[in-house]
Amino acid sequence: MINQHPDFKDDPTAPIGVFDSGVGGLSVYLHLKTLMPNERFIYYADTANVPYGGKSGDEILLLTLQAVARLCKRGCKLIVIACNSASAHALKALRERCSVPIVGLVPAVKPACSLTKTRQIAVLATRATLNGYLLNDVITDVAMPQGVMVHKHFEPTLVPWVESGMPIDSQVANLLIRQTKQWADMGVDVIVLGCTHYPFFKGFLQTFIQKENLDVQLIDSGLAIAQRVKSLLDFFNIASPTPNTTPMQLYATRLDDDLLATAEKLSGEPFIELIEYQE
Ligand code: DGL
Repeated sequence: MINQHPDFKDDPTAPIGVFDSGVGGLSVYLHLKTLMPNERFIYYADTANVPYGGKSGDEILLLTLQAVARLCKRGCKLIVIACNSASAHALKALRERCSVPIVGLVPAVKPACSLTKTRQIAVLATRATLNGYLLNDVITDVAMPQGVMVHKHFEPTLVPWVESGMPIDSQVANLLIRQTKQWADMGVDVIVLGCTHYPFFKGFLQTFIQKENLDVQLIDSGLAIAQRVKSLLDFFNIASPTPNTTPMQLYATRLDDDLLATAEKLSGEPFIELIEYQE
């Protein structure tokens, strides 16, 4: 069993753990800190193994179990798997093996089905997410009964593009624009950003959509996940009663020169404490 470090047991000021393969989960962290300013956060980025999207389910499961065990060791009272790929392959096992509450992500297909007028939506996600049972269960249980057609798409260059700070003159930006235009021409009116790295280019895509006057909306699950975390803190009576004054700690399994600058740029946070993970 993976347990919270005993020193933090029943301590409402214990941190919340946030996990992703890289900096993508910071898009979820932004919602978490806005909604829960009293909470202290530890972010774990498995930068030695990013990207997860093309890895096997078994590999993702092992890396995710390791990340969660490390966050629990640092006292986390609740852990957010801010990674669709990891949630797809590890959520079930984590809920069986971990005694702290675990919140995972699934691409926002359910709200997309309520929003679409054309009954055609697209899910942009990693291969691991597209093949995982979490997404496919929602497609079978929610999209299919409503007659909503789901177009799945994996573009392997997107995560490395975000990890490198999204240079706008890159070929990846063009790919993204071409794909969006193609979907709009096919009648897709909702695009689900099904990877936590993707909300960081939402603004860029939105500008293109407006310029071209396309009838397309972009959605992701960040806010809904933060709301879920907040309600769980209340439910378990573990919300911090006092404002947090500690900077976010970012543990990375591999440091590189640009990591801190990229993390600060994406999170808009000037005082991140970057630590190379060591046992
Ligand atoms: N941000 C992650 C996700 O939501 C992981 C992407 C990757 O490492 O490929 O799937």
